[in-house]
Amino acid sequence: MTRLILGIETSCDETAAAVVGDGRRILSNVVATQIELHRPYGGVFPELASRQHILTLNPVIEQALAQAQVTWREIEAVAVTYGPGLAGSLLVGVNLAKGLAWAQGLPLVGVNHLEGHVYSNWLQTDAGLTVGAFPILVLIVSGGHTELILMHDHGRYTRLGATLDDAAGEVFDKVARLLGLGYPGGPALQKAALSGDPQRFDLPVALRHDEKQRYNFSFSGLKTAVLRLTRALTADGGAVPTADVAASFQAAVADALVSKLLVAIDDFKVSQVCVCGGVAANAELRRQLTNRLPVPHAIPPIWLCTDNAAMIASAGFYRYAAGEHSGWDLDVRPNLKLI
Ligand code: KG4
Ligand code: ZN
Repeated sequence: MTRLILGIETSCDETAAAVVGDGRRILSNVVATQIELHRPYGGVFPELASRQHILTLNPVIEQALAQAQVTWREIEAVAVTYGPGLAGSLLVGVNLAKGLAWAQGLPLVGVNHLEGHVYSNWLQTDAGLTVGAFPILVLIVSGGHTELILMHDHGRYTRLGATLDDAAGEVFDKVARLLGLGYPGGPALQKAALSGDPQRFDLPVALRHDEKQRYNFSFSGLKTAVLRLTRALTADGGAVPTADVAASFQAAVADALVSKLLVAIDDFKVSQVCVCGGVAANAELRRQLTNRLPVPHAIPPIWLCTDNAAMIASAGFYRYAAGEHSGWDLDVRPNLKLI
């Protein structure tokens, strides 16, 4: 019999609920995005985000159950993101999940949002590779995190490295703003880069040859380099060739990420890589992964790269199946780490 988990995700600006069977089969995956709400502010406005979650979450959960064609009686546990993320946003999801689980007599499973991204690679879809045998080299690239991790088994990780400054998604968002490309930055920058020449500008890839920072990343220098470049280009009244700058920047970020993967693949002799998080949606990164990695890689379809609740239900299932669940005193952890 299929074991069904209801997943709930409200860590940032997407209100999401999903029903997943056996940790892998998506029966429904509802995401109510708040992009239009935050657009005028050029970024996520935390108070608005939590207020919108309050308004949207109940109907989103009802929709997830209806689309999956299941009733509460068939759900085995409720999995909810409890960190990392915006405190106010997390609170809405955790409190409603607690109330619903309590009322329905179901166990509650608190899920780490980053582990959720990792498990987006376990969800079955028509496209792509599904994950193979452990150990797996995992690259998480989201708006708030850039982490290189060795995954030994379900729920067992060693952290190899991370960004020393900005996260990959964060630098996409900042550079998009700098180039006047609008919000959200990542997709806008990718669109602008479509007609650009990625080789026009040679932008720096930090820490490439730094032995002490073998598995770490740094993106703040790249951001500054783009700023200097645009200033130099406009100094004598010229226009910024936005498409070329965007394409060159995007290629440099992808290069930085893939280069560290190559080092770790060689050092740890892994036979598979998993990439996840919002930046995994990036076309240039996907292209370089395909062209440069010597081992197969799993990467979710675009719609599972950005925040969703199916990945939370999947991660929750593997935790629950291993005998774990949370107490009713589960609290939000805005700065929660994976390891
Ligand atoms: O994983 P995610 O949805 O939320 C977090 O947990 O942070 O990631 C959001 C980040 C944002 O910084 C966004 O600009 C970036 O992922 N992103 C992209 C693309 N789509 C989303 N970055 C580059 N190219 C994209 N196509
Ligand atoms: Zn995320």
